[in-house]
Amino acid sequence: MDNISNEQKTLDVLILAAGLGTRMRSNLAKVLHKLDGRPLINHVCLTATALAPRKIYVVIGHQGEDVKTAVMEELNEEYAAFVWQTEQLGTGHAVNSAREHLENEDSTLLILSGDVPMIRAETLAALVQQHHHHRGRGAACTILTVKLEDPSGYGRVVRDDAGFFSRIVEQKDASEAERKINEINSGIYCFHTQKLFAALTRVQNDNVQGEYYLTDVPALLREAGEDVSLYQHTDAREVSGINNRAELADLERIFCRRTISRMMLDYGVTFIAPKNTYVSGQASIGRDTIIYPNVAIEGASVIGDGCTIRSGTRITNSRIGRSVEILDNCVITDSEISDRCTVGPFAHLRGRAKMEESAKVGNFVELKKTILGRGSKASHLSYLGDATIGEKTNIGAGTITCNYDGVSKHATTIGNHVKIGSDTMLVAPVKIGDGAVTAAGSVVTRDVPSETLVAGVPAQIKKSFKNDVPQDNTQTKTG
Ligand code: UD1
Ligand code: CA
Repeated sequence: MDNISNEQKTLDVLILAAGLGTRMRSNLAKVLHKLDGRPLINHVCLTATALAPRKIYVVIGHQGEDVKTAVMEELNEEYAAFVWQTEQLGTGHAVNSAREHLENEDSTLLILSGDVPMIRAETLAALVQQHHHHRGRGAACTILTVKLEDPSGYGRVVRDDAGFFSRIVEQKDASEAERKINEINSGIYCFHTQKLFAALTRVQNDNVQGEYYLTDVPALLREAGEDVSLYQHTDAREVSGINNRAELADLERIFCRRTISRMMLDYGVTFIAPKNTYVSGQASIGRDTIIYPNVAIEGASVIGDGCTIRSGTRITNSRIGRSVEILDNCVITDSEISDRCTVGPFAHLRGRAKMEESAKVGNFVELKKTILGRGSKASHLSYLGDATIGEKTNIGAGTITCNYDGVSKHATTIGNHVKIGSDTMLVAPVKIGDGAVTAAGSVVTRDVPSETLVAGVPAQIKKSFKNDVPQDNTQTKTG
């Protein structure tokens, strides 16, 4: 009847993501729970895009607006379409929500679950391939199945005596004998779109859960004389669904292990204790970098070659250059550290802090939205916020940029070759010229010209290292 060859059949994807996920015992919709730092639904969406479908439909319900927002962070607008299922009456009912968009399509519909995040694009491509080529003309439905040692919780795939598909029975509806079947329905399928929607109208909710099961559709198709094929996959972990927090934790561990072993084997990164280290799948780490126990590298962080990262440090969405040494217990978020810098122990960089080459940040120093110039040092006990610091400048112990006047934040600018004495308070907005010096305990409330020594509370010019600048007790000028 159709003269479009299967090869050329348009592929659409439909992802089920409307349920709350009662077994999570959470106020947050299940598909918004994070695996490897991103929502479950985003893993599935990203994998789907690898197949280059015409469109990805996401069925949303519980916290639908939030799910939509999460998905839009990952998908192109032209790709995503959202379909509301306001009442969750089962997976069949969920698919039915997309009827008006799809029911007349002579296309292939790949159905995925928002709570099955580990599935690989290669596996889905193989499923679609088999679906299109089944017996030369393609199947009406192809189900991705897998054999599990412990199939409990999943729908079981019942085969007839000849080994062909007979039906899917949900755990809750299964007989004693059926529960012993260890081939399960992954919840991932390909359908001929029109045939799926035609069969869906015949699905009843006369089962233990009183739901409209999508899993009843394959048997209805088979009874109507259509071909239902089974694609049995071997990697069970790929199709693990997350239904509770224990399963989420299992997948988190598997995911992280995969990332770390890829980094060890392909990138040449040393992990002292791989099992006690977290590295996000979006991160990248360079060759010969050494990561000590209890380090967390989150988000899309990039770390260069030959770095050392000691225990207790967290790096989130940051860029670290080459040969950087980060000592114990540092927190580095949304920041940038250039080559050959040293950081920590107990340092905190945040809010687009930037350390230029060979700069040093030491014990109990916090940098917020601050640039620390090449070769400059802040070695002990400082808060540097909204500051721009030049090259080869030394920030003495206990220096504070007083950047907040109770209403708004103000900037501090410090030049090159400056020596800020211990316990200096820099009351922003304020500028310190090149080569200037502040004495210990100064409270600097006005700009300091270059090559000048200031001291006191408030700080006054005590000395100039240049000839043409007034000497002694003259107040520092503004400007
Ligand atoms: C489902 C399958 C089961 C399969 C398992 C694989 C059915 C009836 N059962 O069971 O055979 O072994 O997946 O993981 O399909 N959803 C909606 N709207 C609803 C109900 C569910 O969008 O009304 C969504 C959920 O948000 C979830 C997905 O569909 O993302 C699967 O639903 P879930 O309740 O987890 O189904 P399972 O009981 O795991
Ligand atoms: Ca599930």
